[in-house]
Amino acid sequence: TSEPVSKNIVWHEGVSQKQREELVGQRGVTIWFTGLSASGKSTLACALELELLQRGKRAFRLDGDNVRFGLNKDLGFSPKDREENIRRVGEVAKLVASSCTTTLTAFISPYLADRALARKIHEDSSIPFLEVFVDAPLEEVEKRDPKGLYAKARAGVIKEFTGISAPYEAPEKPELHIKTNETSIEEGVAHIVAYLEKNNFI
Ligand code: PPS
Repeated sequence: TSEPVSKNIVWHEGVSQKQREELVGQRGVTIWFTGLSASGKSTLACALELELLQRGKRAFRLDGDNVRFGLNKDLGFSPKDREENIRRVGEVAKLVASSCTTTLTAFISPYLADRALARKIHEDSSIPFLEVFVDAPLEEVEKRDPKGLYAKARAGVIKEFTGISAPYEAPEKPELHIKTNETSIEEGVAHIVAYLEKNNFI
């Protein structure tokens, strides 16, 4: 990641991550959902967040549309703006995960390089980062079109729409791959929970 613009700043060490996790009794981890619009990222992330909270775990979700109403209200959908969107979300997710919370992010995050940066931001702070590819064919998500955005994109009303007039670069080696046209939400959540348990993340 790039150097800060400010020069006279000094990193401050406090409670170590290890000690914080021991005292809280939960590990921090970010689960990064990526996929086309209407692929099921938010639905899966919401269901997983609820499942974890019901189990008494700390969980918190950051969501594309929602974050664009606040923190990232200055960003659009050009490649540069998406890059900055994902960089900021990567930094925020790392901070939330550092508070010993299972942090769920649901952003299209269409570029490999941007997701690699989000991963690097985590790795540099030794916070685990799990990429979940929420996979559904374009024909399927276009049929779903819950917000009518694909129709508008096809009509040229929305420019730079992912999958239609802007690229989606699928993950090459995601930790988890969920095909939402073959798997129910419950099965998808169970699959992720099993992975988290197996690897001692919860
Ligand atoms: S990105 O690519 O990661 O920066 O996008 P993200 O922050 O996840 O925002 C995606 C949601 O914004 C709506 N929307 C668009 N998506 C893609 N391309 C264009 N041009 C666009 N314009 C608006 C859309 O509702 C996306 O929501 P999801 O939940 O993915 O369907």
